[in-house]
Amino acid sequence: MLQPDEKKKFVREKFSAISPKYDLLNSLLSMQIDRYWRWKTTRLLQEFPAGQVLDLCAGTMPLSLELTRQAKQRLVLAVDFCEDMLRAGAKVLPDDDRKPRIFPVCGDGEEIPAPSDTFWGCTVAFGVRNLARTQQGLNEMHRILKPTGKLLILEFSRPTNLLVKPVYNFYLNKVLPTVAGMVSGDKEAYEYLASSIAAFYEPEELLSMMREAGFSHVERKSMTFGIVSIYVGVK
Ligand SMILES: C[S@@+](CC[C@H](N)C(=O)[O-])C[C@H]1O[C@@H](n2cnc3c(N)ncnc32)[C@H](O)[C@@H]1O
Repeated sequence: MLQPDEKKKFVREKFSAISPKYDLLNSLLSMQIDRYWRWKTTRLLQEFPAGQVLDLCAGTMPLSLELTRQAKQRLVLAVDFCEDMLRAGAKVLPDDDRKPRIFPVCGDGEEIPAPSDTFWGCTVAFGVRNLARTQQGLNEMHRILKPTGKLLILEFSRPTNLLVKPVYNFYLNKVLPTVAGMVSGDKEAYEYLASSIAAFYEPEELLSMMREAGFSHVERKSMTFGIVSIYVGVK
C-alpha cells in the first residue's frame, strides 16, 4: 500500500500520462453515460445559478463546462494538481460564452488555493477517490464554502445487485484496462482505476467523514445500479 505522498506522486503521474486521451476514453468506456452523471450533479446546484463554484479535481474540466452551461452567470474555479490535465482540457475548451467563465488553477485539493467562505458550491467528479488524504480534502471543501453552500461529490461506488455485480466487475477488471491500455498506452492507469474503486470507502463511511468535516443534510443518491453515487452536503 502506498503512503499518502507516494500515492499523490503516482496519481499525478498517471493522469499526466493519460491526459491527451482522457476525454476520449471517458466517453468510450462509459458509453457517454458520464455526461448524464455530470448533468445530474450540476442540476443539484440549481439554487445557486449566479454564485461562484469551485470544481475540484477538475481534470480536463468536463464538469466545469456543464456547470457553466446550465447557469449563464456562473463562474467556475477549476482546480487540479495535474497541470497536464488542465492544459489538455484548456486546449479544447469550446470558444463560446463558457470559456471566459472558467478559471483553471493548478493546486492541491488537500490545501485548496482559495480563501475561506467564498463559494456557493464545491463539486468533485471522480476525484475524491484519488485524494491521498480524504478527510483533509473534505475539511478543505468545507472551509472554502460559504455558510449554506453545497458540496456535491460524484464518485464511483460498488453495485450490490447480484446480477449487475459480476458483469460490472468483469468489465472493470478485465475489459476496461485492456481497451483503455490499448488506446492510452498505459494499462496500469486503468488497473489503478479498478483497484481504487475496490479500495474506496463504503458510502456510509464517506457520509460520516463528510459529517466529521462539518457538513449537514448529508445524503447519498445512487445512480445507474449503484455504479456511481452523488454525495450531497451543506455547510
Ligand atoms: C478521474 S479525474 C476526474 C476529472 C474530472 N473531474 C472529470 O469529471 O472527468 C481525477 C482528477 O483528480 C485530480 N486529483 C487527484 N488528486 C488530486 C489532488 N490532491 N488535488 C487536486 N487534484 C487532484 C487528478 O489530477 C485528475 O485530474
